[in-house]
Parts: sequence; structure tokens; C-alpha cells
Amino acid sequence: MRESKCSSSTIKVHLELEYREIRLSLKLQGYLEPFQLSLEKLQEVSHRLRRDMTRGLGKHSHHNAPVKMLPTFVRATPDGTEKGDFLALDLGGTHFRVLHVRVVEEEQKVLKMDSQICTIPTDMMLGPGQQLFDHIAACLGDFISSRNLKGQTLPLGFTFSFPCEQKEIDKSILIRWTKGFKCSGVEGEDVVKLLKEAIQRRGDYEIGTVAMVNDTVGTMMSCGYRDQSCEIGMIIGTGTNACYMEEMKNVKRVEGEDGRMCINTEWGGFGDDGSLKDIQTTFDVMVDEASVNPGVHIFEKMISGMYLGEIVRLLLVKLTEDKFLFSGQASETLLMPGSFETNVIYPFISAEHSLENVEHILTKLGLKWDEVDARVVRVCCDTISSRSARLCAAALAAITNRIRNNRKLGHLKTTVGVDGTVYKKHPNFGEELQATVRLLAPACHITFMVSEDGSGKGAAMVTAVAQRLARQSRLLEDSEGEDEEEEEEDENN
Ligand code: BGC
Repeated sequence: MRESKCSSSTIKVHLELEYREIRLSLKLQGYLEPFQLSLEKLQEVSHRLRRDMTRGLGKHSHHNAPVKMLPTFVRATPDGTEKGDFLALDLGGTHFRVLHVRVVEEEQKVLKMDSQICTIPTDMMLGPGQQLFDHIAACLGDFISSRNLKGQTLPLGFTFSFPCEQKEIDKSILIRWTKGFKCSGVEGEDVVKLLKEAIQRRGDYEIGTVAMVNDTVGTMMSCGYRDQSCEIGMIIGTGTNACYMEEMKNVKRVEGEDGRMCINTEWGGFGDDGSLKDIQTTFDVMVDEASVNPGVHIFEKMISGMYLGEIVRLLLVKLTEDKFLFSGQASETLLMPGSFETNVIYPFISAEHSLENVEHILTKLGLKWDEVDARVVRVCCDTISSRSARLCAAALAAITNRIRNNRKLGHLKTTVGVDGTVYKKHPNFGEELQATVRLLAPACHITFMVSEDGSGKGAAMVTAVAQRLARQSRLLEDSEGEDEEEEEEDENN
């Protein structure tokens, strides 16, 4: 008797939950719609980016172009003959890494010999630039002496994952900070010079030649060693960006017509001229306004790990205010900016999504929730991360379609090296991106290759390729010298 009473009340609760869910899902649609971009809209976004890429490459249009299309002076991908020992630095987020890397020619392998992580305190991300570079030089110094590398003067690959105007492989001017960094006195300065000056101030160790590398380039190069058709590098992590091999004749700001050069697109800046206003939601605008760099990297702010969680949080707050969630009661934690981190999205979306998985998260946020609330949060996480994957697909399609066009190919077969926490950790981000890009670039067959430590090993690889090219051009010069001598001898005889 007792048991049947209990089960009828359970059924009633379930029915109530279901009715509430049906009522809610209809209303919820109005909030989610602005995030749901049709294929036609994505196509349009992809076309706009292609137009902006051309503007970025142009000699005169570059100056005002939101997508900077920066020449990297990387003119070749690995050919498998690279070798040697290198140091690599990797700065792009809250952690900073120092690595010792060996490139082994016979085995076609890049071996990470050793590495060390140093954290960058938040106040240092916003403080004077000299303090940041002194910190980097100190970490590098500790690493060199603790690994007995002093006196070896190894070449150094410096992965610096911010937009830089590269003048040479070892001269790189920071255009602007992104991803929460705002150190004074660095924008407009040569980053290699700042690093070298910091090392000189210490005076207790030396480094060899330096090659500056964006993380997208490192990613492309580390995959390029394994698959020589890899000519695109893409990052979807704290920030987002991509690079690819462009025909030199189209790189109007660098002299020379022959061959190719890797271009760092800095696609995160797409929309900085207002061109994405039609797809920006009120929540995107709020995220941008609250950031340390309002108006900058609009596309990145709709996509990358630094911002996705915050977009979800703002939507959840709105739904709570409008009494669709948590019985209209937001917690103090939910109201705190940054409290819903992007990695909190993943358990909501995972295939094993279960109440136990998310219980911990919602309770930690101090929320009083029921099953329907949990499902609504899941739909919000899914919608916002799905938009991110589809926008990335539109951007990638712009690049592959451009390469295909450049080479006048009916069909392009290419490989993209990919890295970044969002791509690697999100349960279905990669799948959605790949499915969408197939629709947007049907004449391109793209293989996705997840990079193994592109920022570390890739930086060493860029340095190794630069050394190989320098060696080859020295050999060429020597043999040209010999020819001249031979010619002179001929004339004398
Ligand atoms: C930077 C890029 C970088 C990307 C991924 C962006 O914020 O501007 O240079 O490649 O983040 O780390």
C-alpha cells in the first residue's frame, strides 16, 4: 500500500517535470535562436572572411584590415632532413613552458628531452612588460642550469601566441595583446629584442639564434614532420587562430613572387570592423565589453575557451532572471563573472551525461536545481559550443577554398594540424566542425591531425627548418662562388 502511494507521487512529479520541460522548451527556443546559425549564414560568414583575408594580404588594404594575414617568414614545411638540439619557449596562456627538444633525422622524430612549466601570475599578465620578460628569462635560466645545458648555446624556438608583425624570422613586433594579457611597454616592440635584453640583464647564460613562432605555425610544422601534406595549422583553445601556406605572389607586403610562405591569419580579429554585428548576440556584446580589450578579437570571443563558459553563464543568468531556471533564484557564485569555466561545459555534453556528472558542478555553483534545470543547462552548453564549432568550420572552409582556388584545383586534398583544449577536450566539437566543413567546402578533402605539442616541438621544428634553409642557401652561395672561380679560371686560360 505504502509502496504504491510512493510510486504514484513519483509519477506525478515526473509528469510535472515533463510538462514543465515542454512548456519551457518552447520558450527557450527564443533565447537560443540567435546562436543557431543556418548553413546559408555560415556560407556568408565564410565568404566575408575570404574577402577580409584578401584585404589583409594587400599592400594598401592591409593597414585597415581586421584579419591581419601576417607573413611568418616560414617558407617551407619540414622535408625530413632536419636535425639537432633546440630550446623552445612557449608563451600563450597563463602557463609558460621551457623545453629541450631533439630532432632526429634518421628516425624522422621530434623528441621532447625535458620540459618545465612556470606559471604566470595574473597580475604579471597585466603589469609592466619588463617584469614579464625578466620572469621568462629567469625560468629559462633555471631550466638551462638545472639540465646542465649551460655553455651549449642552443638555438631557440620561441612560440609567442599573440599577433605579431614579423619582420624576419627573429624580429617580431607585437601588434596587440589578446587572451587576457595587457602588459605595458610591449605592444609595438620587438619581442625577440625584449627577450634578449632580459637575458643580458641576467648575464649568466647565452642562447643561439632565435626563431619566432606563432602556435598555429608550430602546430602546422609539428604535424608537417609526420605528414608532409600538412599545410594548415589551427588552434581552438584559450584563443583561436589558423595559419596556412600561401602563394608568395599573393603576399603583396613581402618581396618575391616564387614559392610559398606561411601566413598567420589571426582570424580572431575577424569582425573587429563590425562585419559580424548581424550574428553577435547580446551576450557576445556583454562578454566583449567586460574584457580587457573591448572591440578587439570579436570572432575569437564567440569561439574560444577563454569566453565560451562566460557566454553560457550570462545566458543562464538571463534565464534565471526570467524565471525559467533554478526557480528564479541565481546563486552568488553564478552571478560572479568567470565562475562558469569553459571546461565545465564538457561534462554537460558528454555522451555519458548523467545527473551525477553534473550534480557536483551545479551544487558547487550554489544552485538549487532539479532535473529540468540540468537539462536546460545542457541545451545551453550544447547550443553555444555548437555555434563555436560551426563558426570555426566556416573559417576553415574559407582557407581551404582559397588554397584550392590559388592552385586552380578541381579538388584539394590537404591536412590540417589542430591543437587547443576546446578541440581536444570537448566531447563532440571536432565531429561537428568536421561535418560542417564538409558541407561548406565540398571540393576539399581534409584530414585532421591532432598535434602533439605543436607549441613545443613545432617551435623546434621551425627553428630546424630555418637552419636547414640557411644551410642550403649557404651551400648554394658556396657553389655559386665555385662556379664564379671556375669561370674566372676559364677566362684566364
Ligand atoms: C592570438 C593568436 C594565437 C591564438 C591561439 C590568439 O588570441 O592572437 O596569435 O595563435 O590566440 O593561441
